[in-house]
Amino acid sequence: MRRSGAWVPSRKQIRTGAQLRGIRESAAINTRVLDAVADAIRPGMELSEIDAIVYNTTVACGARPAPLHYEGYPYSVCVSVNDQVCHGYPAKGRFLREGDIVNVDCSTEYKGFFSDASRMFEIGAVSQDAHRLVVQTKACLLRALDEVRPWKPMGEMSAAIHRHALACGYSVVTRYGGHGCGVRFHEEPFIDYGWRAEEGMLMVPGMTFTIEPMINQGASDLRETEWEVYTRDGSLSAQWEVQVLVTEDGHEVIAR
Ligand code: MF3
Ligand code: CO
Repeated sequence: MRRSGAWVPSRKQIRTGAQLRGIRESAAINTRVLDAVADAIRPGMELSEIDAIVYNTTVACGARPAPLHYEGYPYSVCVSVNDQVCHGYPAKGRFLREGDIVNVDCSTEYKGFFSDASRMFEIGAVSQDAHRLVVQTKACLLRALDEVRPWKPMGEMSAAIHRHALACGYSVVTRYGGHGCGVRFHEEPFIDYGWRAEEGMLMVPGMTFTIEPMINQGASDLRETEWEVYTRDGSLSAQWEVQVLVTEDGHEVIAR
């Protein structure tokens, strides 16, 4: 496949049995942390309370929140509200209000193994437009997941995300994307949601990576601070993220 021009992953991107066991343990903790947030999230909640739940639940499991101090990131979790695209700060003095749509993005390090997943939450009753964006962004992720099987290029995922998002009248963020994840938090390759179907690294059994499309209601242009990312036009943005393992005949979701 390399001779025919495919971008073939290196050996170190194929997980050993021991690595996969560690990654699965990390992912099980990450899922518990997201479940704890899901149980507690409500209108009026201060975002710093989400940060505390993530920190405390993770540490109680003997793990560490991977975002904390990652390249200077100051919190344990990213909480991105409404027009925030990603990397939102769960800061004191910020509160959830009825009608908000919120992404909570959790990543865990356990015994040196990494997991990463995010979910959307609707706070109380939200507008029909906001609900549709949340539902159709999940649909984009599922379309991408359908493309995960060995010996296909990763661009098949990007193309599937684009097809669905554009059919809905939305745009796809390409400045940020998915990534290898397991032995390090962010590993090769960066998965570009701007790739065409035939582009990107070959998917091979034993690889673990994230699928995390960011879908904007309006244009894909962004406004960025040091960490926090917003839509430039102020329109809503949504994201769902899973971590997958490529298997011999398809894939398995290991963190959601
Ligand atoms: N899932 C996000 C990502 O891969 C988690 C970011 S944590 C941060 O970018 F520390 F980098 F903000
Ligand atoms: Co990620």
